[in-house]
Amino acid sequence: MVGLGPKRKPSRKGSMADMPGSMVEEIKRLEQLFTVDTKKLKAITEHFISELDKGLSKEGGSIPMNPTWCMGFPTGYETGTFLALDMGGTNLRVCEINLPEEKGEFDIIQSKYRMPEELKTGNADELWGYVADCLQQFIEYHHEGEKLDKLPLGFTFSYPATQEYIDHGVLQRWTKGFDIDGVEGKDVVPPFEAALEERGVPIKLTALINDTTGTLIASAYTDSEMKIGCIFGTGCNAAYMETCGNVGKLAHMNLDPDAEIAINCEWGAFDNEHKILPRTPYDVIIDKDSPRPGQQAFEKMIAGLYLGELFRLVLVDLHEQGHVKMFEGQDISALKKPYSLDASFLSQVEEDAFENLAQTHDLFEKELNITPKRPELELIRRLAELIGTRSARLSACGVAAICKKKGYKTAHVGADGSVFNKYPHFKVRGAQALKEILDWESGRDGKPLKEGTYPVEIMPAEDGSGVGAALIAALTLKRVQEGNTVGIKDWEGMLKGTKAAKGDNKQFGGK
Ligand code: BGC
Repeated sequence: MVGLGPKRKPSRKGSMADMPGSMVEEIKRLEQLFTVDTKKLKAITEHFISELDKGLSKEGGSIPMNPTWCMGFPTGYETGTFLALDMGGTNLRVCEINLPEEKGEFDIIQSKYRMPEELKTGNADELWGYVADCLQQFIEYHHEGEKLDKLPLGFTFSYPATQEYIDHGVLQRWTKGFDIDGVEGKDVVPPFEAALEERGVPIKLTALINDTTGTLIASAYTDSEMKIGCIFGTGCNAAYMETCGNVGKLAHMNLDPDAEIAINCEWGAFDNEHKILPRTPYDVIIDKDSPRPGQQAFEKMIAGLYLGELFRLVLVDLHEQGHVKMFEGQDISALKKPYSLDASFLSQVEEDAFENLAQTHDLFEKELNITPKRPELELIRRLAELIGTRSARLSACGVAAICKKKGYKTAHVGADGSVFNKYPHFKVRGAQALKEILDWESGRDGKPLKEGTYPVEIMPAEDGSGVGAALIAALTLKRVQEGNTVGIKDWEGMLKGTKAAKGDNKQFGGK
């Protein structure tokens, strides 16, 4: 097998020498459970392709493949001033973005607000009220005393929403641990706009977008090879550009078959029917105990929200089964608390460069009040590697599936999210898996593979929920101006009171 570039020196060797036999056996069992070999990666990718196709068809499948009504890539010459709102899992971010006339440039000012934990399981009025309050604060702070035209807003709502229109979206279901009553199955825009209206906030929603679509568009603004936008974070998902002729479920609209439309895959739902993913008993528990059992099967095996929980479930199980005497005689009550470990805990275990895993030892003492022995530390480290590696390798199946489906031999893939940006080795493990799935022999330059020449390169994305949301708002206003109002519910309302309505060409997306 051709190596993926120069071999990195392992940070530590690890030692199995003084391991009790039962512990060695247990590590082997875990390796079998969590390892996804090349053959399986390829089988998953093939099944993924057929599920992506099914999602686009009129009959539909379990991957939603939501058309976003973002019709095509930016040229780099979009212009105007836009607001962007990102309602993510931990923070709420508000930005004002100015797209100047220079190609691919932007200026951005932003404020972050904490997303109170209790809001995620509270009621819908409180949620929209809080979001509108943050927007109001932002505008008051940055535009004190100014008489403002209505500012067009790109709203990044990173949950599965069916979008009959770009300025509306019906939430299919909450993901990532959100559980707010009375929002699922409903259009999220009217209550959001009502909350703005109530407060007299001068904003007009132009586009409701997904974080993956924002990532795709923002990255394509500066890189014409960009084909896919991905998020590997608390949740995981991807968006790519499809031609309308391939979207069976839009056939009734008689769109130009060559016109492009971004598809928000919502691939977290891949294999909800459990046909192909190698689920372990621990994955089964995660699903069963989640607010939405039976949904987001793929996401629950790879996304940041679940990595720490998987790790915790295995350790609790090993303690309780007793055969490896894991943490024998110790009080594991802190470890028993569901979702008490996040992906950053696992990252810290994987980052421990000490031969004797001293950092991991201290981490367990400090965070969990557990003092692991040396063989236990070895198992802990191996388990973290297995969970982190499986996440990266399964993620690569989704990327490979889109590339194979679209016939892309080469592509740039813009990625964002805490797991992609912070989890150790995620990128190199993902690249290794892509190499295995796509049978790469050499880099784009015909030389041995190395970062920067992978045929399909997953790279850090531009700011999707800021610049991406602004660009999608600009692209939308521009096509309204050109008379293309397909997939827009209320284009007159969208313009009303904005600069664009007054014929300000700069606010329409320039050239
Ligand atoms: C959501 C997607 C989102 C992804 C990444 C998933 O849980 O369903 O809409 O793109 O997380 O944030």
